[in-house]
Amino acid sequence: MSKAPEMGVDVAGIQLRSPVIAASGTFGYGVEFEEIVALDRIGAFVTKGLSREPMPGNPTPRIIETSAGMINAIGLQNMGVRPFIEEKLPKLRQMEGAVVIANIFGYTVEDCLEVIRVLNEAEGIAMYELNASCPNTSHGGMVFGTDPDLLKELVEKTKAAVKRPLMVKLSPNVTSIGQMAKVAEEAGADAISLVNTFVSLAIDVETRKPRIANKTGGLSGPAIKPIAIRMVYEASKAVKIPVVGMGGIVRAEDAVEFMMAGATAVQVGTASYADPRAVENIANGVKRWCGSHQVERVSSLTGAAVL
Ligand SMILES: Cc1cc2nc3c(=O)[nH]c(=O)nc-3n(C[C@H](O)[C@H](O)[C@H](O)COP(=O)(O)O)c2cc1C
Repeated sequence: MSKAPEMGVDVAGIQLRSPVIAASGTFGYGVEFEEIVALDRIGAFVTKGLSREPMPGNPTPRIIETSAGMINAIGLQNMGVRPFIEEKLPKLRQMEGAVVIANIFGYTVEDCLEVIRVLNEAEGIAMYELNASCPNTSHGGMVFGTDPDLLKELVEKTKAAVKRPLMVKLSPNVTSIGQMAKVAEEAGADAISLVNTFVSLAIDVETRKPRIANKTGGLSGPAIKPIAIRMVYEASKAVKIPVVGMGGIVRAEDAVEFMMAGATAVQVGTASYADPRAVENIANGVKRWCGSHQVERVSSLTGAAVL
């Protein structure tokens, strides 16, 4: 193939130059990766979850390695939405080609709405990702993402408040991901993203105690990839809005697999811990893969699996 493949994708009206996005919680506030990753080579990055007030997170240990991934219970530690706008966003705006997706969470619907009101007034954000799915906090978070009625209320109210496209991040800790995807779509989501981490437990057999101070944590990385692929497939069959897939992507072929299952774009999380340049390498790798497989437009891979 002589012409370079067309790598652009459209997620809820936002044009991304690559379908590969850095996932929330694994890419800081973006500025930390300035020297490491060419932000104009990747599709976008998602900020750490932003809350109304700063949060210290959970006690340590809160990250452990497992045989094929990691368990974390960070507890949504973050600087809070206002300091983010004052201290990080001005720098991000100066970074050539950076597409910023702000990840939002709250313990109550009102908390989320307040974060959105503050972000709405700031420039330099392309889209919101509403975390309806964090498994590591005792209230809010996953509760929204596992109860269809609560999810509906959260998404409806959030949608009424946002001045930018709204992507809703779903919890995988449910029986029917298709149903939750549909609820989010009907409540007004412009896109959905999945999966967040799976609730998990690891025990130190010497001390007989949990290896994570919070007791349970969220499992991510290669261990969850086949489950995530199945969920992306089911969710994409249930809705018409774009699906952004993630869970255990470490190689370009993993990203291609998610797209073939039905994803319009993908996110890369845990892989950035092993290799801070992973997101850019995977973005470059998907382009090479398209070139070597006579794929003229990467967007043609979405749902292309023969299942
Ligand atoms: C250390 C860590 C922190 C995370 N923090 C957030 C967060 O603040 N908000 C969120 O929506 N997802 C968060 N996630 C979930 C990831 O964005 C992603 O959904 C999940 O890890 C699956 O992708 P992966 O296997 O590529 O990591 C976090 C994941 C990890 C490993």
